[in-house]
Amino acid sequence: MSDRILVFDTTLRDGEQSPGASLSRPEKLQIAQQLAKLGVDVIEAGFPISSPGDFEAVRQIAEEVRGPEICGLSRVRQEDIQRAYDAVKASPRARIHTVIATSQVHTEKKLRKSREEVLAMAVDGVRFARSLAAEHGNCTVEFSTEDAVRTDLEYLIDVVAATVEAGADVVNIPDTVGIATPPHFHRIIATLLERIPLLRERIVSVHCHDDLGLAVANSLAGVEAGARQVECTINGLGERAGNASLEEVVMALKVRRDHYQAASSVVTTELYRTSQLVSKLTGMAVQRNKAIVGMNAFLHEAGIHQDGMLKDASTYEIMSPADVGVPESRLTLGRRSGRHALKARLEELGYHLAEAELDQTYEQFLKIAERKKEVFDEDLAALMDDAVRGVPAKFKLLQAQVTTSTATDSLPTAVVVIEADGEVIKDAAIGDGGVDALYRAIERATGVTVDLADFQLRGVTGGTDAMGQATVKVMYQGRQTTGRGASTDVFEASAKALLDAINKVSWLEEQRAKGSGGAA
Ligand code: KIV
Ligand code: ZN
Repeated sequence: MSDRILVFDTTLRDGEQSPGASLSRPEKLQIAQQLAKLGVDVIEAGFPISSPGDFEAVRQIAEEVRGPEICGLSRVRQEDIQRAYDAVKASPRARIHTVIATSQVHTEKKLRKSREEVLAMAVDGVRFARSLAAEHGNCTVEFSTEDAVRTDLEYLIDVVAATVEAGADVVNIPDTVGIATPPHFHRIIATLLERIPLLRERIVSVHCHDDLGLAVANSLAGVEAGARQVECTINGLGERAGNASLEEVVMALKVRRDHYQAASSVVTTELYRTSQLVSKLTGMAVQRNKAIVGMNAFLHEAGIHQDGMLKDASTYEIMSPADVGVPESRLTLGRRSGRHALKARLEELGYHLAEAELDQTYEQFLKIAERKKEVFDEDLAALMDDAVRGVPAKFKLLQAQVTTSTATDSLPTAVVVIEADGEVIKDAAIGDGGVDALYRAIERATGVTVDLADFQLRGVTGGTDAMGQATVKVMYQGRQTTGRGASTDVFEASAKALLDAINKVSWLEEQRAKGSGGAA
């Protein structure tokens, strides 16, 4: 048995299908670059036929990200497969992932096709993908049987055997609705490998959803049965309850290598940083007690536990925070820290800045250090997150002033000063609360009105001088955009978050006007 498990990351495809997790094109690229650093084997970058924006995002990732295979999803129709191939072909390591549903409920109710028709469509799709892959020279063909777990097993065997025969390099067995249990899923994978000799020469992949909270357990049961690829997402994002969490699968394989006798090539020290990046860019918070990357994952509260930890960490820790890249030292810089100290600390945290960017970041750092006695790693990460956007900022906040009172008949008022393409605009508004007044003033000043779908504010570190990070989700012309901002002042953080979203919306509008297909 080969002991190498391929990690297929679908954060940018299935993960991005999470309600409320949409990403812009520059954000997708940023995540893909980080996934390459993390050492995943395959990045499923999107579903190219679904929109011009998705096509463009996959194409750009295929062009710019090196290391992992870059994969595009398609249905089995030729037009879909061609579009997926066109999006990934610039990658020296490309992959076409083509899918059709095989369960009775899907074939009858959704596809309205007979079993024979579905089988023929699957085989034709794989053959066509194979022909494009031959043109490329280094392109893998993956085929998925959607809703495999609810598919009649004899029929599933027929479909998998026929598609392997037609040239699929990888056959993926999804638990699309998250209904499997570990023994059930183990049985399906083991049966397929036992009954289809040719499949043993190819790669069996698993793709489990978390509707019963069993996605990771089922994926690992698949590995025990002989699967050699696991499809998963950072922070377990994905349709409904999500997919198997990449960090949990990878660390289970690593910590329990004695049991699984298999390993991935993921650089586990990049897990925490990747999780934080995905959480910030999608605006989907990581639950505090989430395994591996949650805030509490390495905290010990009970006295007995703390006593044990002081004597020997192995009393209560099965892996160390350093194994997954959780920063160990928290207190780092202050008002007197120089530019070099900032540069060194940022590099330790994985941010490598050009000189001009460093100058700008140092100025912002000093402003924070003026307001806060101690600048923590989390503050620096929030500052960097605020600085790294990828979309040019048309509007820049110069000043925000909010007046509120505890009186019941008070009139919360906000004044903003915003720079737009070199011009300084001042405006003011009243609202139902401080943030409401602020947002109305920003909308007046920028001339852009959006619907606020979600607003979250959290302290990055503890204390009343903590950096606050605001995240907003706004709807504009039927499309959701996320904005973020950080500051020691909650109103400033909130204003920056809305302006960030408005900058993205304005950029999209400009792209659309230029006719680039609105790819974001
Ligand atoms: O859950 C699923 O079945 C999928 C397929 C496209 C692999 O996401
Ligand atoms: Zn899925």
